[in-house]
Amino acid sequence: KRLILIGPPGSGKGTQSPIIKDEYCLCHLATGDMLRAAVAAKTPLGLKAKEAMDKGELVSDDLVVGIIDEAMKKPSCQKGFILDGFPRTVVQAQKLDEMLAKRGTKIDKVLNFAIDDAILEERITGRWIHPTSGRTYHSKFAPPKVPGTDDVTGEPLIQRKDDTAEVLKSRLEAFHRQTEPVIDYYSKKRVVAQLHADKPPKEVTAEVQKALS
Ligand code: AP5
Ligand code: ZN
Repeated sequence: KRLILIGPPGSGKGTQSPIIKDEYCLCHLATGDMLRAAVAAKTPLGLKAKEAMDKGELVSDDLVVGIIDEAMKKPSCQKGFILDGFPRTVVQAQKLDEMLAKRGTKIDKVLNFAIDDAILEERITGRWIHPTSGRTYHSKFAPPKVPGTDDVTGEPLIQRKDDTAEVLKSRLEAFHRQTEPVIDYYSKKRVVAQLHADKPPKEVTAEVQKALS
């Protein structure tokens, strides 16, 4: 399947992705993860992206479209993929459609992680990440066995630089202004499935499975 996950920061896209990936053997392409890796490695791309990311603004369409175009060439992405955090503007959605049309394919489903803004600050400020595996925890909703430590490796967990209440405000503003129109774009193509992303993770997983069955 070729899937897009759309939702505001903290809505659970990264939490559900590995489960969908395991079940459908897809490749998981998360532009945020790829950009953070580029920033950490100080590549030319990372240097260009860092300023916008730190402020909670979107990186330019050209940069992210380039990343996705390249990543989708991977052999593991030929039979299907999960796009997590892309497309985030209508321009990105149009470019994606063009890319897929050239390959003779299209998007099967867009999962809309619908949730109220009010819930997201607690989710974002409580998030802890194991940087090398991408495993995600939450100090209240999904705590690790030992606080601050990854369950599998015992290595330290980190918090994302943009996971502050302050930066979250800009990220939410970018979502409403630039990304919500993408949901309308796909609604017109009748491929959007609505999820109640405010429910507990397992219930959201069940909704995902229903939407994809
Ligand atoms: P990106 O990394 O995509 O961040 P985001 O969209 O803000 O989304 P998050 O990763 O914060 O949220 P999530 O939905 O994955 O939540 P999670 O599952 O971890 O983008 C970062 C930046 O990169 C952007 O600001 C931009 O600058 C740039 N960028 C990326 N893509 C771009 C693009 N296409 N164009 C331009 N710029 C781009 O969950 C959050 C927490 O809640 C976790 O702790 C989790 O344990 C917990 N949780 C999850 N589900 C539940 C639940 N059901 N109940 C209770 N707790 C839960
Ligand atoms: Zn994420």
